Amino acid sequence: MTRTSAVSGSAASSVIDGKPVEDGRTVYSTNPANLDETVGEVVSADAATFVRAAESAHRAQLAWAKVPAPIRGRAIAHIGRLIEDNAEALARLVTKEIGKPYGEALGEVREIIDTCDFFLGEGRRLYGQTVPSEMPDKQLFTFRKPVGTVAVITAGNFPVAVPSWYIVPALLTGNSIVWKPAEYSAIASAAFHELFVRGGGLPEGVFNIVHADGEATFNGLEQALDAGLIDKVGFTGSSAVGKEIGALTGRHLQTACLELGGKNPMVVTPAADLDLAVEGALFAGFGTAGQRCTSLGTVIVHESVHDEFLTRFNKAVAEARVGDPTQDVLMGPMLDQKFADRYQEYLGWVQPHHTLQGKSGRITSDNSRDGFVGDHENGLFYHPVVVDGVRPGDDIFSQETFGPIVGVTTYSDLSEAIELANAPGYGLSSSIYTSDPAEAFAFKDGIGAGMVSINNSTSGAEAHLPFGGNGKSGNGSRQSGIWVLDQFTRWQSVNWDYSGRLQKAQMDIVELTPDTEFRLDQ
Ligand code: UN1
Repeated sequence: MTRTSAVSGSAASSVIDGKPVEDGRTVYSTNPANLDETVGEVVSADAATFVRAAESAHRAQLAWAKVPAPIRGRAIAHIGRLIEDNAEALARLVTKEIGKPYGEALGEVREIIDTCDFFLGEGRRLYGQTVPSEMPDKQLFTFRKPVGTVAVITAGNFPVAVPSWYIVPALLTGNSIVWKPAEYSAIASAAFHELFVRGGGLPEGVFNIVHADGEATFNGLEQALDAGLIDKVGFTGSSAVGKEIGALTGRHLQTACLELGGKNPMVVTPAADLDLAVEGALFAGFGTAGQRCTSLGTVIVHESVHDEFLTRFNKAVAEARVGDPTQDVLMGPMLDQKFADRYQEYLGWVQPHHTLQGKSGRITSDNSRDGFVGDHENGLFYHPVVVDGVRPGDDIFSQETFGPIVGVTTYSDLSEAIELANAPGYGLSSSIYTSDPAEAFAFKDGIGAGMVSINNSTSGAEAHLPFGGNGKSGNGSRQSGIWVLDQFTRWQSVNWDYSGRLQKAQMDIVELTPDTEFRLDQ
């Protein structure tokens, strides 16, 4: 029998110990493609509720860690299957709540399934090592142990895929979780939570969700850390908040897993296939309306191909389908009013020495876009913008501009291109278009980014390669694949001496005597 959701797609409250928390401030999540449509009502909790959720997760953790890892792996397998059976419904909800084009939303849900597929078998591995001892009758071992209770705080641009990068491996390795999703994607997140709890048959308290604003979350997190209830924080969001979280966790002798912003460069060399580069720049710049952390920031194009690239890129942008995210479009609306407001500010960074083709700003009847798909009237729809002539010193060149805006600049030799690519000080994703292997490897070696695409866009990381950045993009932590295991487990070293006497390491060891004076008589 198929059962339907208690979340019902229209209301969300925090869930602690399997029970909804009814008291709190009511906020509304709206459809950014049609602000008149309320997607759901959200009960926003206070700091004390966050602490209660941490207490609940802390209580549940030891028993969860005692569930054999292969059984936890089965839970992940079941979750993946339930997500797959609900993929279209979840993707529709993502599209409705944050305006991500449906095709991309479906890809986002696929990323959860991929993550479950990867980790379901890890329950039967979670390998430790056997290590030889320097003494006889003694064995050495390593074991992975869960860190404990994990607070996961995520953004709403990937309201279900990115949370799964934390939550799936954290659960698999025996941690309990308090998850605080973005308020503007609360309904999709509530659906995700329900699918996980039901799909995994998770015991109460193992996976709690708290809907709260940033301030309540930060205060609640601080109190929970002070009380020793949280052992690890995973955070995806802005570099500014990431610094605060990093400082807070640092004061508690913890290192957070931080996935922050990007100013992701794309270098186009004279040896590039220009049409391929244009296609990559279009998707990377304007997919998810430029609101991915991997979105394209600046195209750094060789001066000899700049004019040709720009002409083709501007044409592609002018012809791109923009509008109703339930239709086949490249770009839908901004995620939420606050991103639209901030994006308006970024547009104010355009300088007289920059060149824009076509319109910019909000799409309205007076500032319309040819070929717009659907009705722009009540949506947060913006013109995609290409700003040519950006250079170091310009805000548009050096700051992340979360939204549909791409800068273009030129270079004369590859070392200059690499310098420009590194100059903003972020280091998440990067890309080079070239048919010359020497250029590709020189770029790979010189770029500071954690992720490098060769003849591919800056977006579109696969779910089983390390994901993460350096510099302003993070603290070197990596998610996904086997690499994330080091975020959610700690190595425990065990030595077992069965000699029946105290053997002292470094002291009670047998020395062999080498004949260092020996020479071949030739
Ligand atoms: C993000 O924007 O936080 O590589 C994640 C990509 C996606 C994930 C982006 N798979 O663009």
